[in-house]
Amino acid sequence: EHEGLLDRFGRRATDLRISLIDKCNLRCTYCMPADGLAWLPKNRLMSPEEIRRLVRIGVRELGVRELRLTGGEPLVRAELVEIIAAVRSDHPDLPISMTTNAVGLASRAKALAEAGLSRINVSLDSIHQETFAELTRRDFLDQVLAGIEAAAAAGLTPLKLNAVLMRGLNDHQAPDLLHWALEHGYELRFIEQMPLDADHIWRREKLVTAAQTRELLSEHVELGPDPRNRDGAPAERFTVRSRETGEVLGTVGIIASVTEPFCSDCRRTRITAEGKIMSCLFSREEFDLLSHLRAGADDAELALRWQEAMWVKPKAHGMGHVGLDAPDFVQPDRSMSAIGG
Ligand code: GTP
Ligand code: 5AD
Ligand code: SF4
Repeated sequence: EHEGLLDRFGRRATDLRISLIDKCNLRCTYCMPADGLAWLPKNRLMSPEEIRRLVRIGVRELGVRELRLTGGEPLVRAELVEIIAAVRSDHPDLPISMTTNAVGLASRAKALAEAGLSRINVSLDSIHQETFAELTRRDFLDQVLAGIEAAAAAGLTPLKLNAVLMRGLNDHQAPDLLHWALEHGYELRFIEQMPLDADHIWRREKLVTAAQTRELLSEHVELGPDPRNRDGAPAERFTVRSRETGEVLGTVGIIASVTEPFCSDCRRTRITAEGKIMSCLFSREEFDLLSHLRAGADDAELALRWQEAMWVKPKAHGMGHVGLDAPDFVQPDRSMSAIGG
């Protein structure tokens, strides 16, 4: 039996997150700059065969049990369907999910499901056209809503929605967004904004904390404990009941990355689009696995390198309690779009 992707603190990574491309077609303010980005040239991206090989090593040698595809925006990667089909043919039972902004998804949802994608999470911070355009710097809300609908119809479910709340921008719309999601049967999660934006505009005073989100929602609905096991997931789930009738309307998740970190339970290992292992969203060291692969390393050596990279995974992100009051916290150079979220 192998040791898997164990770290110094006794955690074992079983969830693999692979970024397929650094490019995106939106410019969300909490992630990307408005312009001035240099994309990776194509030959630096992992090819479909290289991705397939690393996933195979992860699953067969290192105990990986789940795969998530991220970006940038994974739909921007031309070979997306090919990549999913290749991984699926090696691993008939592996859960494969994707985190996407859903732009252009409407016409591709069916092909993705047929290639073997299991489910998706969609970033959706607002269902109001103006707010959406302000936050993403693009006017694509209609496309996104069409994409979500097509994905649900194609069976890419349970379909989850991710909303990053920002004070004065979209926090007042949170109850609205929740009702819309519940009506459609999507599982919405509210996310605390992390300091991972390209422009370094993150400010602690602007943070809408999980506690504030719960308060804000509780003015409209009743939140109760969700009996399901959290099982290492970032989101804490709540049942949502109507204040008037007591009827259960569905569930909502809250991802308190900053104020209630879940690092001690972390099961994630990440590979960037250019094939670097990141043991943590906030790790300062990356390990260039792709270079070794391209230099001819065999599976056993690549597995060993991957294990070495994970062994030094940081204990926690170090933002301090209630966000960024830790004096030694330094924001990573990589922005969210270059890590994959
Ligand atoms: P599910 O399995 O569908 O619940 O996925 P998920 O919630 O882990 O993944 P998703 O890509 O939808 O991410 C949702 C939010 O959680 C994003 O803001 C992520 O950046 C955040 N998140 C995911 N993994 C980590 C992590 O390892 N650390 C921290 N701090 N945040 C994370
Ligand atoms: N803080 C928290 N979540 C973020 N995301 C992107 N940038 C940030 C940030 N700075 C979320 C997006 C996407 C997921 C992968 O990460 O909403 O759904
Ligand atoms: Fe895991 Fe790092 Fe995220 Fe903490 S910040 S949950 S250690 S990836």
